[in-house]
Amino acid sequence: MNLIYKTGVTIILFVFTNFLAIAQDFPPWDVPEAATKVQNPVPSNKESLEAGKAFYNTVCKACHGEKGRGDGLIKSANLTTEKFLQQTDGAIFWKMNAGRGQMLSFKASPPEQIWSVINYVRNLSVKKEVIAKRNAIVQLAINKQGDYKEVTAKVLEISKDNQQIPLENIKVNFFAKRYFGNLPVAIEEPHMTNQNGETSVIFPDGIIGDENGMLAVVASFDDMDFNPAEATEQVKWGVENPNNYWTERRALWKNNDYVPVWLLLAFGGGALTVWGFIIYVMLQIRKIKLIGDKLKK
Ligand code: HEC
Repeated sequence: MNLIYKTGVTIILFVFTNFLAIAQDFPPWDVPEAATKVQNPVPSNKESLEAGKAFYNTVCKACHGEKGRGDGLIKSANLTTEKFLQQTDGAIFWKMNAGRGQMLSFKASPPEQIWSVINYVRNLSVKKEVIAKRNAIVQLAINKQGDYKEVTAKVLEISKDNQQIPLENIKVNFFAKRYFGNLPVAIEEPHMTNQNGETSVIFPDGIIGDENGMLAVVASFDDMDFNPAEATEQVKWGVENPNNYWTERRALWKNNDYVPVWLLLAFGGGALTVWGFIIYVMLQIRKIKLIGDKLKK
């Protein structure tokens, strides 16, 4: 009886505290009248939305969640509700400057960046008809003369009648392929395609390749209107990697062929033990059934 009583109380307390935590909402903000009247000077165009998205994903997403529903790592404000959207851009700007509690103050960030992220946040909850993205491809041309290593990417739209049309003003990213993800190359300035759809970078020296100095060069683009695409080209531009350290040695983080032996053994042993136990139990159950059958007779 005592135990049932205690368990009951525990469960009720548990449910109640959770309920309190969930129901706890943030108090309203006290935004000065004048601040709510400030107009957003940055038009909500593609450039601003892309800048806002980049800022949002690096800074805000952790707390506010991918889609702004306040479901990130900590409980934060939902930026997609009717109530949130009813306020002016000026009010949001003021709150982002002021900050409160765990909501940081972004006073130190450039104002255009704040206005752009506001444009992006408003865009999060716009019900989008599924916009069919257009298709484009990247081509890579490698050009080496002496010490001069140039990579040119050309972005071409594939039109409905299968024509290839050069795309101007598309941002291309260049990488060297690594074991883990890609290493960005020449990121000091954005590489935008010209009217021929082309943009070039000088490839840096000193990037480690495989034992023969081979490297994979990657060019890709990330544009809201197009499906993503990338192109890869093997070049012998890397620093030779004489002792094959990164390719031959077994290590914890390697792929299947190079996992350490002890890990293989430990994992295999564990799996065998579990299976052995399951089979043992099944044999025991069969034994019980056989004895039962015997007794029935
Ligand atoms: C460390 C976590 C964290 C980060 C990072 C963060 N926020 Fe917040 N944000 C919060 C929390 C928590 C609240 C609720 C604060 C309150 O109301 O007391 C909030 C509230 C807000 C509000 C006010 C919501 C309302 O009710 O009007 C806006 C707007 C906002 N955040 C936008 C942003 C944007 C945009 C970014 C990125 C530039 C960002 N936040 C980054 C945690 C965060």
